[in-house]
Amino acid sequence: MPATPATRPLLIVAAFAASLAAGLLFTLWMLGGLQKVTAPAAIGGPFQLVDQGGMTVTEQSLKGKPTIVFFGFTHCPDVCPTALFDMSEVLRAMGKDGDRINAYFVSVDPERDTVGKMKDYLSSFDPRLKGLTGDPASVEKIISGYRVYAKKVPLKDGDYTMDHTALIYLMDRDGKFVRPFDLKRKPEEAATDLKRYL
Ligand code: NI
Repeated sequence: MPATPATRPLLIVAAFAASLAAGLLFTLWMLGGLQKVTAPAAIGGPFQLVDQGGMTVTEQSLKGKPTIVFFGFTHCPDVCPTALFDMSEVLRAMGKDGDRINAYFVSVDPERDTVGKMKDYLSSFDPRLKGLTGDPASVEKIISGYRVYAKKVPLKDGDYTMDHTALIYLMDRDGKFVRPFDLKRKPEEAATDLKRYL
């Protein structure tokens, strides 16, 4: 339609409105896309492992109790034993309520951490602390589900160590990740914090 002097202002208004609408749609589209990118990635998910007593533990075992999870390996020189000691201290500080939470130590080194090795190793810690291991594929599955960093590092003597995430994961009674759990405080303080999720 050729613009007559009478319709020209109308056309300008229409074009302006159209560009505004397009801009708005574009902005909404961008925001939608951004939301997808910045939405917190789900941590957790299905897994199937075996504890040091030979019992199967899956994501279903997390249901109904808050859970603290730590990933490591029995050959770890310091970080893992310290974390497991701290976890044991929290369980002790919780008293009977300690029976109402799950405390898991998941091996990132299934090659060496057999069920027998885990049983042996965990005998130094609170008996309520469960050590989980499995075949490499099963361990790989929980490592990727929990977005754990774990990498084999060769040592000079032909042996190897593992670089790994040293985070304590707090999961709620629905098995959903809440936040990292701070163990660098008094066990009583950590126990009080954990009891809020019972
Ligand atoms: Ni370690």
